[in-house]
Amino acid sequence: MHPTILVVEDDETLRTLVMELLMKEQFQVVTARTGVEALELLKNGLKPDLIISDIIMPEMDGYELYQRVHNYQNLIPIPFIFLTAKTGEEEIRQGKSLGVDEYITKPFKLEDLIIAVRARLKRAEEFRKGFQDPILEKLEDLQNLLRITAHELKTPIASIESICKMLMTESMTEADRRQFLNMLQNQTIGLKELVKDLLELNYLETTANKEKLEKEKIFLLDLINLGISGTSELKKPSHQIKVEISEPNLWVYGNKFQLKLVLTNLLSNAIKYSFEGGDIIIRVEKIQEDNKVKISVIDNGIGIDEANLPYIFDKFYRIKTKETENIPGTGLGLTIVKYILDLHDTKPEIKSIPGKGTHISFTLPICQP
Ligand SMILES: Nc1ncnc2c1ncn2[C@@H]1O[C@H](COP(=O)(O)OP(=O)(O)OP(=O)(O)O)[C@@H](O)[C@H]1O
Ligand SMILES: [Mg+2]
Repeated sequence: MHPTILVVEDDETLRTLVMELLMKEQFQVVTARTGVEALELLKNGLKPDLIISDIIMPEMDGYELYQRVHNYQNLIPIPFIFLTAKTGEEEIRQGKSLGVDEYITKPFKLEDLIIAVRARLKRAEEFRKGFQDPILEKLEDLQNLLRITAHELKTPIASIESICKMLMTESMTEADRRQFLNMLQNQTIGLKELVKDLLELNYLETTANKEKLEKEKIFLLDLINLGISGTSELKKPSHQIKVEISEPNLWVYGNKFQLKLVLTNLLSNAIKYSFEGGDIIIRVEKIQEDNKVKISVIDNGIGIDEANLPYIFDKFYRIKTKETENIPGTGLGLTIVKYILDLHDTKPEIKSIPGKGTHISFTLPICQP
């Protein structure tokens, strides 16, 4: 990855010049005309490796930008280089009190800017390496999870609130009241599912590890039956499940409860994202040479386009299209699947054709009864 540099400069000629120069040196460049604009970009998720900023700018000067950036991004500080017309003593003193140590005085030679940029990036990298604190990384993960969770909770809570308001109006027919209560129930079921998934994920992320995971010999057909009976979507018999298994007497080694969760999540997706009356196949194939068994869940549903495939195992990732907008879900199911399979030293494989269907599979080691 090429480092990203944010250039903040109100003078258009200079801004373009610096941008072109940096791009020629293979850096990725984002520009902003003012400190306010730069801050907006950062608040919206831009994470540059370095900021080059003018000092005197309208609305917010370079020093204020520096201060604000460090207020927001207090976990990993972004290095700054200031471009300045003159470096008077007072200016340097002010900068030093803030912790600024890199100035380039205008007019400057282009090579000098590149040398300063490379030196600053190198120092930042060394600092990061020497400071690779797993706790900080975890904290950042946690902050992200918190932000996403709050966002996911906001929508159903807002609809529950408005349904309650509607229910409090006096003039309502019994039929309408029933319909609203129904909606209320659906929203709370959704919230309960979200909390359940979050707890499961939290357990997998924080407590579960390969060494401690309790594994046992499992009769494969039992596992498949547990998966089918645990899939709540199957309570409405809109789909047929077909089990294709050439050797029915296989035993596998793993954690029964977790592997059942893998199957229920894959089956739930196969049902949710396929058309009523569609067939779902659970296929079991023995891989002779590896002493493993490959388990696949296959549907002939809406499928997943190639651009989305790399992301569907990410936390809270859901594909938003007309076809999926009314399908409930939290986007955690496949994240849980991936975690569990990782604890079993395997990973999901996925093939999908939009409009035709999806085939997800994983392998497990075969063991003797
Ligand atoms: N079999 C499938 N066919 C088509 N799309 C799928 C299939 N399985 C998953 N997806 C897509 O991948 C996304 C992520 O799946 P995942 O199981 O993680 O979340 P979800 O089903 O939306 O919610 P949850 O499982 O947490 O209730 C889904 O929202 C859907 O867009
Ligand atoms: Mg799912």
